[in-house]
Order: sequence, then structure tokens, then C-alpha cells
Amino acid sequence: MADHVLAIDQGTTSTRAIVFDAAGSVVSVAQREHEQIMLRAGWVEHDPVEIWTNTEWVTSAALSHAKLGRADVAGIGVTNQRETAMVWDRRTGRPVHNAIVWQDTRTQPRIDELIAEGGGAEDGADRFADATGLPLATYFSASKIAWILDNVPGARAAAEAGDLLFGTPDTWVVWNLTGGRRGGIHVTDVTNASRTLLMDLRTLDWSDELLDVWGIPRAMMPDIHSSSEVLGEAALPSAADGLPIAGILGDQQAATFGQAAFDAGESKNTYGTGNFLLVSTGTDIVRSGNGLITTVAYRCGDEPARYALEGSIAVTGSLVQWLRDNLGIIQRSEEVESLAASVDDNGGAYFVPAFSGLFAPYWRPDARGALVGLTRFVNKGHIARAALESTAFQTRDVVEAVVADTGRPLEEIRVDGGMTRDGILMQFQADILGIPVVRPKVVETTALGAAYAAGLATGVWSSRDELRAHWQEDVRFEPQMPPDEREKRYGQWKKAVSKSLDWVD
Ligand code: G3P
Repeated sequence: MADHVLAIDQGTTSTRAIVFDAAGSVVSVAQREHEQIMLRAGWVEHDPVEIWTNTEWVTSAALSHAKLGRADVAGIGVTNQRETAMVWDRRTGRPVHNAIVWQDTRTQPRIDELIAEGGGAEDGADRFADATGLPLATYFSASKIAWILDNVPGARAAAEAGDLLFGTPDTWVVWNLTGGRRGGIHVTDVTNASRTLLMDLRTLDWSDELLDVWGIPRAMMPDIHSSSEVLGEAALPSAADGLPIAGILGDQQAATFGQAAFDAGESKNTYGTGNFLLVSTGTDIVRSGNGLITTVAYRCGDEPARYALEGSIAVTGSLVQWLRDNLGIIQRSEEVESLAASVDDNGGAYFVPAFSGLFAPYWRPDARGALVGLTRFVNKGHIARAALESTAFQTRDVVEAVVADTGRPLEEIRVDGGMTRDGILMQFQADILGIPVVRPKVVETTALGAAYAAGLATGVWSSRDELRAHWQEDVRFEPQMPPDEREKRYGQWKKAVSKSLDWVD
């Protein structure tokens, strides 16, 4: 019986395939990392061909580990790192350039020009916010697509002739899954489209005005669909052949869906390469006055779209990778917890990981990383601790913005993602926020959300209420730090942030 769903999660550092059963439990997992190509400071690229090869491999491996065939699986849900821009030739299937990743800041000069044309930092940065919900920033796809068209010889003419296709990783994966140059479908969903700076949040369509601003031909843009509907069938020489592709959600929206945070006021915070806090606002498009962005949360079939406020933090888990790869003070990412536990506290050190500038709530591309408060007493344990604490402090920054925007304190926060396995970090998070931090039994909520979207469209589940009943609390971290201590430490963090903002002349 087709009561399982396969989720493909094409993330920033790896691609995973997970098979879920009808109870929302994990049956099998396969995962492959891909190379992070960093040719210059501020540049981050991925090879789309490597990503597709890994996707094919994990898909087959997850199905074979689960010992399931075509008849046992109702459909495939796709979720992905958002904003990352890929451009390829529709006739050959070959990318014309590596993917330009969401963290990449090479397009800052173009962003600065547009901000200046729009009246400078005060008004210029928000000149497209009414339509898109987003500030002008290198983070979103538009400037990355424009960069490829401007810098790859012949790309603009080919795009204008209709030979090139653009996609975020969901689009690339689904195009290839459904046959690629031999009839692949060129689609995305409303959540991914809402991260490009090119979609109007109200019409849920590409904005001709914005395509014009960036010089991007409409012919290269995918069709925008809902997040939960049958889009096409897999055409692959593997067990996945013929499976319906039945859902697409950007990874942070997928995690929100997987946490069953469907309704206004419900929220989640995911700890991945970066951190992303989303608070659902239902069918209302709520504008932030405090540095959050407005985004589409999901749309099921023909229902009205649901929206969310988002606090996007660029660097959290990737700071742990940096300690491993650039400083070498740990060999494996998991070791950061024991290194941090080798000391009682941060020893006075504060680490602001502004490696891509600072995203929410500051939106300061000119910020640079800062490690402050050092004395001769500070050792690598303190640095590991300060690195972990930076994740909790950055989360407090965005929670403050949520509270200021909504006028209501959060009562607790649901968390998920790899770093939430770290008990020291979760306890510190509760201490710094002063509210309980709640971790569910299934922390693979990103893949689960994509599976939910596909399972709703293929009849595995009948309603979101049914999915809500799957959610189970695992651990609740209660705040233990005295309030004056909490505020003292947060005050020192804010001082450290001010140093990182001051750096570039
Ligand atoms: O907006 C970027 C986000 O989608 C990346 O998520 O989990 O791949 O770090 P992740």
C-alpha cells in the first residue's frame, strides 16, 4: 500500500533523502555532502551537477534501505536551501555557471547602486519591500541571477532567446527528476518564489516591474505552483521512476510545516547552517518594523496562501564548521559540545560571526566577524563556548524583533535542526531567552514538512489537523539563569555587535 512518502532535502551542505511512514516516523535516511566552493572572500558556490548526482544517489539509497518499491510510496516531496541561484541551458541540461549560494555577497555593489538610486540607506533598502516583503540584500536570488547574466559570456542573449532556465535548488532537482532536457518540468512553489525578490506577495506571480529592474527575462523563470499538489512524475532509471512529485517547500517553511506551526502565532526556530525563526501570521501579510522579513509560509492547492514573519540569521552551525575547517580546534563538528563543556563559561569572550555581514534584524552587509573580550586567560574551550553562545544571542536578537512587531511575548519556542542535539546550547538558549525551549521527538522537521506537503496531495494524510496529532514533545529546557545575569550577558553581546558594525570605514 502506498502509505510512505519520500522527502528530498537539498540543503546548503548536503543532500538527504528520508522515507517517512504514515505516522510521520523516519524509516530510512541517506545523505551526501557536496563541496563548498569559495574562490574569493565573500563568494560561495555549489556545483549543480554534483548536487543532482548526489540527489539521484540518496534517493535510490533511501528507497533501497527502506526496502520499499514503487507501490509502497505515494509520492515525493522536495525541500531545499532557498535563494541559491542556478542557471542552465534547457537543451543540454548543463549549468552555465556554478550555483551562487544564498551566503554569497559578491553582488553588494549592484545592491548599493539600487539602494542609492532609491534614496539611500533609509528608504532605498526597502524600495521593493511593499511588493516582496524583503529588503534589498545580496541574500535573495535576483542579484545572483543578474550577476550570471552579466558575467557569463553569451548568457544574456541566450536567456533572451529562451534557451536558459533559472531555478532555486527545488526547481533544478524537480526539472532533473522529471526528465531534464527530455521533458523535465520547470516549476517552483510560492515559498521559494517569495525568496527571489521577484515575486509579488499579493499576486503570487513574478512582478514584471521587478524583472525589469534586474534585467531578467520572464522566459527563464519557472511556473509558480502551490506547495502541495501533484506537479509531475519522476522519470528516473531507479525505484523512484513514476513516483508523483507532490510537494515543494523552501527548507525553513518546510520545517515550520513539519513542526505543525500552521496557524497565526505559531512558530519554530531551526538551527542549521544558519538559524531561521518563522512566526506564522495566517492569511495576513504582516510588515515588520523591526528587521524581520515577510515571506510565504505555505499554500496547499487552491487554498489562500499563508504568510509568516522570518528572522534570518546567516551564520550559526557554519561557525562550528569554521572552527573545524579554518581554526582546526576541533576535528569533527560534534566535538564542539565537549570542548565548550571543558570550561564553566565564556571567560568573557563574545563572538559575532558576521561572515556574510549581519542579516536579521540588523541587515548590515558591512558588518564583519568580531571576537572580543579576550584576555590571556581565554582558551579554545572559551572560544568554542562563545561560538555556541553566539547562536543563542543571535536568536534572542530576532525574538526581540518578533515581540516588538507582534506586541506579544513568546511563551515558548519550538526548535529543530542539527544543533538542537546539543544540550548545553539548548539550556543556554532557554536561559538567554527566559522562556522554555521545546524540542520535539522528530527533529528532522525539514524533511518531514516536505513529506507532509506531498502526503497531503496524494491522500496519505487527509488534513493538517491529522498532522498536528503527530507532533510530540521530547525535551523541554526551562530557563534557570537569574534575570539580572541574563540581561548583563545580553548587554555584553550587544556591545560586541556594535564592534562588528563599526569595523568597515
Ligand atoms: O535561506 C537559507 C536557508 O534556506 C538555508 O538553510 O538549512 O541549508 O542552512 P540550511
